[in-house]
Amino acid sequence: MIDTLAKSFIDEFYSLERSLFRGSVPCSTVQFTSSHSGEGVTSITLAFARFLTTLHGGDSVVADEANMREPSFHELLDIPCENNLRAVLSGASKVDETVQVSKKYGFHCLPAGPSQSATDPPSYATLLQNLGEAVLPELQNRFKHVLVDSPPAVPFIDSSIICRMVRGVVVIVQSNLTRSEVVRHTLDKLQSGQANIVGTILNKRELHIPRWLYRFL
Ligand SMILES: Nc1ncnc2c1ncn2[C@@H]1O[C@H](COP(=O)(O)OP(=O)(O)OP(=O)(O)O)[C@@H](O)[C@H]1O
Ligand SMILES: [Mg+2]
Repeated sequence: MIDTLAKSFIDEFYSLERSLFRGSVPCSTVQFTSSHSGEGVTSITLAFARFLTTLHGGDSVVADEANMREPSFHELLDIPCENNLRAVLSGASKVDETVQVSKKYGFHCLPAGPSQSATDPPSYATLLQNLGEAVLPELQNRFKHVLVDSPPAVPFIDSSIICRMVRGVVVIVQSNLTRSEVVRHTLDKLQSGQANIVGTILNKRELHIPRWLYRFL
């Protein structure tokens, strides 16, 4: 799935890579979010990490799973998550003990941890304060490309907190599902949290003719 997405979004990823990392003020840290759950934020984040790995090598790329509400890195990447971002944010682990390499895809990753029970939800807003102070600076020292997977922006506050800690934000929009008014609301909400929106990606498009023909329309 991750390799398939990396191939099918290759044009979008090239232009994102050019605008993010080669501009006069390159972004080293980019956040991915959406309006609602399931639009494909994690899939696109990991596919972009894979794309960057093929271009620059895995030693320059880390994907940080800052979605502690619906963590999925451990399943999608088939990695252990006993050492995880939650533990780092609460002071129980260190960043360098927690970052691991995806054997399958070659980039580095920092899983959020296992899902939490709904009866005892931690205060994500409090935990996330440490992301900008304790985690991202260390990742930025070690990696050229830091990708931050984050929860949807409409139901949760997390993305509005994280967007102040990163250089740019990419919003994933699910085609034929998310209404333009909702996307506008999401962009407004993030921008009022001081986000620098650097792009949007339309995901799950249904193509009715071969993809290459679209450039002639
Ligand atoms: N371009 C795509 N084509 C087909 N399926 C996709 C695509 N992108 C994502 N999916 C599928 O959609 C589902 C949701 O994707 P994903 O977990 O990446 O969403 P998410 O926005 O991270 O969700 P959450 O907010 O719960 O973290 C998954 O089953 C994934 O495999
Ligand atoms: Mg996700």
